[in-house]
Amino acid sequence: MTDLAVLSKQSGSGAASSDPEQGLLQVSGLTVTYGDGESAAVKAASFDVRRGERVAVVGESGSGKTTMALAVAGLLTAGSAQITTEEIVFAGKQLKRERPRKVPFRTPGLSMVFQDAMTSLDPVASIGSQFRSVLRGVRKISRREAGERAAEWLARVGMADTGRVMNLRPYELSGGMRQRVMVALAMCGRPQLLIADEPTSALDASVSRDVMDLMVEMTDQEGASLLIVTHDIELCRQYADRMIVMYRGEIVDICHTERIEQEATHPYTRALLACVPTLNSVGLDRLPTLEQFVRDPSSGSAAA
Ligand SMILES: Nc1ncnc2c1ncn2[C@@H]1O[C@H](COP(=O)(O)OP(=O)(O)OP(=O)(O)O)[C@@H](O)[C@H]1O
Ligand SMILES: [Mg+2]
Repeated sequence: MTDLAVLSKQSGSGAASSDPEQGLLQVSGLTVTYGDGESAAVKAASFDVRRGERVAVVGESGSGKTTMALAVAGLLTAGSAQITTEEIVFAGKQLKRERPRKVPFRTPGLSMVFQDAMTSLDPVASIGSQFRSVLRGVRKISRREAGERAAEWLARVGMADTGRVMNLRPYELSGGMRQRVMVALAMCGRPQLLIADEPTSALDASVSRDVMDLMVEMTDQEGASLLIVTHDIELCRQYADRMIVMYRGEIVDICHTERIEQEATHPYTRALLACVPTLNSVGLDRLPTLEQFVRDPSSGSAAA
């Protein structure tokens, strides 16, 4: 069986931004190892996110996408992982991630949403009280003002009857509604960067697009950047300006989404693109797998 790991790594042509004025997040040489693991989950990762930009991190399961996002967000706690970096700069400030603490870092200007709202929201607290705690953690405001702000945010994410929703617990909402609440909770602190880890993979296709559209709309309105972690390369193409491709803990390509066909240099990225069904796949009995494609790139073409 072809081992994709032995394939040469080539640098992506969608290079990191060189204009510091536009840069929001700059990550250099981030390495994360769990426990006394022999192999790092993330290996010397370097990338940047510009202000107002949408960047997707894509790669197969276990490639290190979540680990990279959690390390940047400061959510890997002491004892769980060892982190080394050359530098992480966010909004002009150095983030110290090398010495994780027992409790996660709170990074002003950075919010995160996760795949499963049910495990991220507090199951026993009402939606209103979860908003109040976030809003009053960010800015000293009265309970009443926090309640008003919360209702505004719920309305902004398309929730009707916000007064009633404020009194509900997460289990009383549908999956799509819970994701909307998560997006509103993440955005109500007015972040400059929203990191979304597989935000829609637990939802059906149409609700998933609605939630993506909502995140794009909210971040656009706030002038915030979006870093989306996903398995879905089509979702990347549709929503992201640039795509970071991870394979076995390494960033193997960084490409502009609209020029991905030209800019993708690594065989894994090319294989990933070839394995997405298109109208040209109609003549194929079966779509090629990544391994098949790497062995024989012509396996992605329909027979004449
Ligand atoms: N808390 C942990 N302790 C030990 N190893 C971990 C931990 N979390 C992740 N790993 C390992 O680190 C590697 C990267 O995992 P990670 O969850 O970052 O991948 P991923 O790309 O997000 O995968 P998925 O697409 O399945 O979410 C995997 O080998 C995983 O088993
Ligand atoms: Mg993950």
